[in-house]
Amino acid sequence: MDLMQAIKGRRSVRKYKTDPISDKAVETVLEAARWAPSWTNSQCWRFVVVRDFQLKEKLAAILDREKNRSAPAVRNAPVVIVACAELGKSGYYRGQISTDKGDWFMFDTALAMQNLTLAAHATGLGTVHIGLFDAKEVARVLDVPDGVAVVEMTPLGYPDEEPHQSSRKELTEIAFKEKYGKQ
Ligand SMILES: Cc1cc2nc3c(=O)[nH]c(=O)nc-3n(C[C@H](O)[C@H](O)[C@H](O)COP(=O)(O)O)c2cc1C
Repeated sequence: MDLMQAIKGRRSVRKYKTDPISDKAVETVLEAARWAPSWTNSQCWRFVVVRDFQLKEKLAAILDREKNRSAPAVRNAPVVIVACAELGKSGYYRGQISTDKGDWFMFDTALAMQNLTLAAHATGLGTVHIGLFDAKEVARVLDVPDGVAVVEMTPLGYPDEEPHQSSRKELTEIAFKEKYGKQ
């Protein structure tokens, strides 16, 4: 699939077939994530691949508490990938924060997850970035250690719905020439 086609064609998928997906398919999307760029190539991201029915049910219940509309997707999709990040690695130089933005773990993990979701789409699989949940609760369920943050999760599976319409701001609203705000 052409890159722009993948970028423009990927949509959040919140309804999944229960058809299993192979370890190879999971490895393909993780491989895409692995090759994302990161702060000094620090690669702070870590991924937990969840297939276990009871664990998925626990994750979905955590999403339910926030009335997250992707809870059923986490419950039903054959796989859920939970993106975590080692803290204190991205945005640091010799142990010190290097910029006014602090730890860049969210940024690096997002780059990896964007790679992952695009690779999934290019191979016929659906995903949805999910950020609205109690991350500490998810960490408890998945034995994520101290010093590692749970960032987001996505179901992974074959879509069981037509992608919904999704629009974007016009370029003129978001891109400027020479100086901020200048058209
Ligand atoms: C950081 C982030 C967090 C998100 N969290 C959730 C979420 O908790 N639940 C959900 O259903 N969708 C969530 N989404 C999906 C967005 O609602 C969706 O990407 C956006 O509406 C654009 O639609 P599209 O992905 O189909 O283009 C999240 C997306 C991003 C990037």
